[in-house]
Amino acid sequence: MGNGIKILVVNGPNLNMLGTREPETYGAMTLDAINEKCRAVCSKHGFTMEWMQSNSEAILIDTIQAACNNFDWIIVNGAGLTHTSVALRDALALFTGGVIEVHLSNIHAREDFRHTSLITAIAKGAVIGFGAISYVMAINAIAEIQEEP
Ligand code: DQA
Repeated sequence: MGNGIKILVVNGPNLNMLGTREPETYGAMTLDAINEKCRAVCSKHGFTMEWMQSNSEAILIDTIQAACNNFDWIIVNGAGLTHTSVALRDALALFTGGVIEVHLSNIHAREDFRHTSLITAIAKGAVIGFGAISYVMAINAIAEIQEEP
């Protein structure tokens, strides 16, 4: 089980404020609580998971570059950078493994400027709008993909 799969979860700006940040939009769970939930799901599948958050675009990009050949998958919530950062997209595009985009909120049901993601086109897929469950669904998708013949 697990086949040594390594997943890096990358969280962008302001996600460290979850729990108190606009809970009507993002829910009441803290990022630490989402991390714990994901860790439990990963261990159920036998996956190794690393988790990071940064408010700095440079740190996010450095982390993704360093993940090349070290991780099989990146699950990324680019937060506000999703809609603006060509550099974050380029870093994800050079990643050697698979990329799954996640968002807590349904970005398509919100302001127009959130309707465009620069990441979706270079991702394997996206899970959007299920709160913390978006992350869990992404992990479970990896488990299903790994089991494909
Ligand atoms: C978000 C959606 C983005 O538009 C926003 O800037 C965020 C969080 C989400 O998970 O719903 O910071 O990525």
